[in-house]
Amino acid sequence: MLGSTGYRARMNILLTGAAGFIGFHAAKHLLAEGHTVVGVDNLNDYYSTDLKLARLEQLTPFPNFTFIALDISEKGAIDTALSRTPITHILHLAAQAGVRYSLENPHSYIQSNVVGHLNVLEYARHSKTVEHVAYASSSSVYGEREAEVGFKETDRVREPASLYAATKLSGEMLSESYARLYDIRQTGLRFFTVYGPWGRPDMAYWIFTEKILAGEPITLFAPDLMKRDFTYVDDIVGVLPSLLAKTPPRHIIYNLGNSAPNTLHELVEAVETACGQKAEATILPQQPGDVRSTFADISAAKREFGFAPKTELQTGISEFVGWYREWLERQNT
Ligand SMILES: NC(=O)c1ccc[n+]([C@@H]2O[C@H](COP(=O)([O-])OP(=O)(O)OC[C@H]3O[C@@H](n4cnc5c(N)ncnc54)[C@H](O)[C@@H]3O)[C@@H](O)[C@H]2O)c1
Repeated sequence: MLGSTGYRARMNILLTGAAGFIGFHAAKHLLAEGHTVVGVDNLNDYYSTDLKLARLEQLTPFPNFTFIALDISEKGAIDTALSRTPITHILHLAAQAGVRYSLENPHSYIQSNVVGHLNVLEYARHSKTVEHVAYASSSSVYGEREAEVGFKETDRVREPASLYAATKLSGEMLSESYARLYDIRQTGLRFFTVYGPWGRPDMAYWIFTEKILAGEPITLFAPDLMKRDFTYVDDIVGVLPSLLAKTPPRHIIYNLGNSAPNTLHELVEAVETACGQKAEATILPQQPGDVRSTFADISAAKREFGFAPKTELQTGISEFVGWYREWLERQNT
C-alpha cells in the first residue's frame, strides 16, 4: 500500500514515546497514512499519566496500532518485546523532556536520553530488518547564542546550557558513532518548541492557558529577552512519513522549526486573545538552563522534504486553547 505521500510501501514503525505529545500526533498521522505502528512508552509520571492514557485511547481504534508498555532504558527490553516483529523503521521520540526539570532530576535524563538512546541503537544494530532510524534531538543543542539569523545544522554545537541539552547532544553523538560503526542509517530531528492540542503541561503555553482561564497570575521569566521559534505540531508530523521513507546515506540532522520566532510577550498575547481574558503577570529573571532565543534555519528540510510550516502562533494557540477547554471539561465531569 502506498501512503498519500506516494513515497513507498507500508512501513512497520517502532515509535518510542507513543503516549507523549509529539509521539501521539506522529502515531496518528502515520497510522492514518496506512503504516503499521508499534508504540512503546513507560508512561512515567513526569506529567499527568491520565493525559498519556487519554492520548493512547485515541490510537487504539486503529487496527494497525499496537502498544507495549516498556522502559527503553532497561537493557534488552525492546529486543525482548519485539523479537517477532519485523520493524523496518524507528521513530525514536521517547525522552525525559524539559529544560528546568533537568536541574532537579538529572539522573532521569541520563537514563532515558542517553542509556535509552543507546538501547534503541543496539536494537537497530542487531535487527535484520531496520532500514532507518529517525530520532528526536532539540533546538537546545544550539545553546545560548545571538539569533539574528537562523541556526544552521552545520553550526558548531558544543556549549549546551542545560543537562537536557547535553543529553540531546549526547544522543546525536551516539547516533553518529553507530552510523559509522554499524552502517545504521539515521536522521536526527532538532525540534524547536513544538506546541499544539494534546500538548505538554510543563510548557509555558499550557501553564499560561491554565492560569489565565483560572483567573490566576502568570509568572514570566525575563520576558523582554525571550524569543522562541514556536512550531505547530501538525506542521512537524505532516513531514514525518516522507522523512522516514527517505533513508539517508549515513547520518544527517535537520532543524524542524517554524523559522519565524515570536517573543514571550507575543505568546502571552496569543493566549490572552484565545482565552478572551487578560493576564496579570509577575516578572522574574531568566532561569538557569534557559536560553534567550531560538531560531531555525529550515532550508535543508525544505529542500529535502518540502518542509514548509504554515501555522501562525495565534492560529496554533487558538487550536490549543479550544482543545484545552474540552480537556478541562472532561477532567471536571
Ligand atoms: N515538545 C517540544 O517542544 C520538543 C522540543 C525539542 C525536542 N523535543 C523532543 O521530542 C521528543 C518528544 O517530546 P514531547 O514533547 O512529545 O515529550 P513528552 O514528554 O510528551 O513525550 C515523551 C514520552 O516518552 C516517554 N518516556 C520517557 N522516558 C521513557 C523511557 N525511559 N522509556 C519509555 N518511554 C519513555 C514519556 O512517558 C513520554 O510519554 C523528546 O525526545 C523531546 O526531547 C520536544
